Formats: sequence, structure tokens, C-alpha cells
Amino acid sequence: MEILVSPGPEETAARAAEAVLAAWPTDTSHGTPVLGLATGSSPLGLYRELGRAVAEGRADFSHTHGVALDEYVGLPPGHPEGYRQVLLREVCDVVGLAPERLEVPDGSRADAASLAAAASAYEQRIRDLGGVDVQVLGIGANGHLGFNEPGSAFASRTRVKRLSARTRRDNARFFHDLDDVPTHCLTQGLGTILDARRLVLVATGDAKAEAVAAALEGPLTASVPASVLQWHPDTVVCLDEAAAAGLRNRQYYDDSAAGLPTP
Ligand code: F6R
Repeated sequence: MEILVSPGPEETAARAAEAVLAAWPTDTSHGTPVLGLATGSSPLGLYRELGRAVAEGRADFSHTHGVALDEYVGLPPGHPEGYRQVLLREVCDVVGLAPERLEVPDGSRADAASLAAAASAYEQRIRDLGGVDVQVLGIGANGHLGFNEPGSAFASRTRVKRLSARTRRDNARFFHDLDDVPTHCLTQGLGTILDARRLVLVATGDAKAEAVAAALEGPLTASVPASVLQWHPDTVVCLDEAAAAGLRNRQYYDDSAAGLPTP
């Protein structure tokens, strides 16, 4: 795992964009590349940086498939806070990803059978696309990854999850009031996330410091779902100083980020 700490959110976003582009497939003869997409505030700067790379001719996402991490259950199609709409605004419009190549789990029908069918169709769709090349991630203040709340199995696949009270409170800022925040979601499982070839996690601000420290330096435990990152062979974690404040081995991460000595 590579842990890169930057002074503030802007530099963090720029380094996260570099981490995406550094692993971006150049040989597309085996299929179109697939970018895994988180919603929420954390990756917005990263998406803007990718948009800048496109404008400068350093990247091109026009043939990329975008695969969302999760979606609320029960919001009507077209709801502005449904993750399809959010990703259309914050990713497709910004990086030039074609809307018809955006995949989001279908949480519009809230009965158990429809949701189970939507979850397995989503897993199949990701497989059909050849898997995710780079997965962008944020972390919840409670350590969740995607909407895999504490207690989620490391081997879990896309499925319905109940949102925790903490997550609903945290996300109430996107809705009129707390009662409007859905109680359930469809989320890629931790096992699904682990299948992505590279993971790029972005976290900024002191509200994330505790969860970041627990995930990166604590035990591998379902109580901190993001601790599963320790298991992945190619994870880049991009933090600002505030989010990194709880890390004990900080000096080592900075030394490692400096690279090999010049011969
Ligand atoms: C959303 C998602 C969540 C968020 C996390 C952090 O697709 O997967 O795990 O990344 O809740 O949200 P923000 O960035 O808004 O603090």
C-alpha cells in the first residue's frame, strides 16, 4: 500500500488523479477500460483533475466504462441525489465519459426479489466488462467502504445493505431532511471492490482521521470495512494532513513516497 500525504485537499486531488492515470490501461485491444466511481465529496477534486487532464490532452475517457460503487434503494429514476444523476453531473460532464457507458446498480424497485436480481445483474455486468481497472474510493467516518457498513463480510458481493444511522446523518446534507435519506442501498461488496486491479482512496479533513488510522494501521476487521484495503496488492491512499493526523507510522510513509535514492 502506498500512502501519500499532501498539505491540503487540492494537492491530494492532484496526486489521486496521477495515481489513476499511472495505472490507466494504454493497451485497449482487450476491451474498453473501466473506471470504478465513488460518489460523495471526497473524489470531486480528483474528478476535476481528471477533467483537466482530458482538456490538456493527457487523458481520454470518451470510450471508458464507468461503474458506480453503490446506489440508494427506493429513489425514483431521475432523482437528483440518486447516484446515477450525481455521477452524470460530477463525472460524465466533467471527464467526458459517455452517459450510455455509465453503469449504476438499479435500486429503483425496492422489493427484495428485484433488488437481489439487480445485484446479481450488476456483478455479471462488471464481469462482462472485464473487471474494474481503477476503482476510486472514499471512506466513511465510520470506516465504511462503498456502503459496506461495519460488520460487512470481506468476501461480500453486490447486495442490499441497511445504511447505518451515522451514514444517514452524514448524507442528510444532500437531502431536504434526515427522513428523506433512504434507509437502504445496493452496494458493491468488499469482495467485489477487491477484484479491481488498482484502488485509489481519497480522504481529506479531520472528520476522517480516526477512520483512516483504524483502516490503515489497525487490525484487519469487519468492524472497520476499509481495513480490507490492507489485503489488496495495489492500493494508493491519498490523504491531506488533516485526514492523516492519526497515523503513527507517518515518517515511514513520507520516506517511502520519496522513492529510491538517486544512484
Ligand atoms: C459513496 C461511497 C461512500 C463514500 C463515503 C465518503 O459512493 O461509496 O463510501 O465514499 O461515505 O463520503 P464523503 O466523501 O462524502 O465524505
